[in-house]
Amino acid sequence: FSQAETFPVPEGMFAETVTEVQHYTDRLFRFRITRPASFRFRSGEFVMIGLPNAAKPVMRAYSIASPSWGEEIEFYSIKVPGGPLTEHLQRIQPGDTVLMKKKPTGTLVLDALLPGKRVYMFATGTGIAPFASLIRDPETYEKFEQVILCHTCRDAAELTYGHDLVRDLRADPLVGEVAGGLIHYATTTREATGRMGRQTDLMASGRMFAELGLPPIDPASDRGMICGSMAMLRDTKAALEGFGLVEGSNSMPATFVVERAFVG
Ligand code: A2P
Repeated sequence: FSQAETFPVPEGMFAETVTEVQHYTDRLFRFRITRPASFRFRSGEFVMIGLPNAAKPVMRAYSIASPSWGEEIEFYSIKVPGGPLTEHLQRIQPGDTVLMKKKPTGTLVLDALLPGKRVYMFATGTGIAPFASLIRDPETYEKFEQVILCHTCRDAAELTYGHDLVRDLRADPLVGEVAGGLIHYATTTREATGRMGRQTDLMASGRMFAELGLPPIDPASDRGMICGSMAMLRDTKAALEGFGLVEGSNSMPATFVVERAFVG
C-alpha cells in the first residue's frame, strides 16, 4: 500500500506523523507519532487509530503506551496476518501519516481505583501497553507506594518491550527518581526461562507472592488493573474477586479495573 493517493482527513481526527518504529518479533512492534498540541488524555486510556489509505479508513482501538506528559504518542502493536489494519500498519515508516481520533477513553485509569498501598498491573502480550503509560506517570507513584507490573508472554523475545521500558524508566532522570516502588515480574509460558507460568496459576499457588516477598492480595491495601485477551481477563478477574476485590469504573471507583487488549 502506498500513501501516494491522498484522502481528506476525516472529521474528528488528527493526521499525525510517524517519528519512530521498532520491531521486536515477527508478531510485535512499537511506533511513535507526533502529538497534536490540543490532544489531552489520562495515562492508561485508549484511542482509535487508522491509516489514511481509504475514504473511510479502518480504525482500531489502541491503548496509548506513552504517559500523559509525553511529547509524542507511543503505541505497542501486534501484527495480525491479513488483519484489516495491522497488515498495513506493520509496514509504516518514519514520515508516514497515522490517523488518530480526537477523543481518548478507557477504564484503566488511576481515577477508577480507590486509594491503596499497592497496585498490581496484570498484562499478557500487548496488554502491557496501557501500563507502559501508567508506570511512566509520576501520579501512579503519588497514589501507590508499590507498583507491581506483571507481564506474561509465550516467549522471552515477547518480554523485550517490557524489559526495555523498565530499564529506560529506571534510568530516566525525572521519573526514575519517583519510580522506586516499581517491581517488574515477568514470566513466560512456552519458552523455558527462569520464571515460568501464567499469572493466574502463580497467584493461585501463592508462588508469585512468595517470589515478590509480599502478602497475598488484600482488599484493604491492594488494587488491581487487568489488560489481556478475553480469556485472561475472565480468569484474572475471577482470581481478584476471589481475593475480595471489586470491579470499578470511572463513575464508580473500586478496587480493580479491566480492559481488553485490543487486536486489529
Ligand atoms: P499460554 O502460553 O499458556 O496460553 P497470547 O499470545 O495467546 O495472547 O498469550 C499471551 C500470554 O497469555 C501467554 O503466555 C498465555 O499463556 C497467557 N494466557 C492465555 N490465556 C490465559 C488465561 N486465560 N489466563 C492467564 N494467562 C493466559
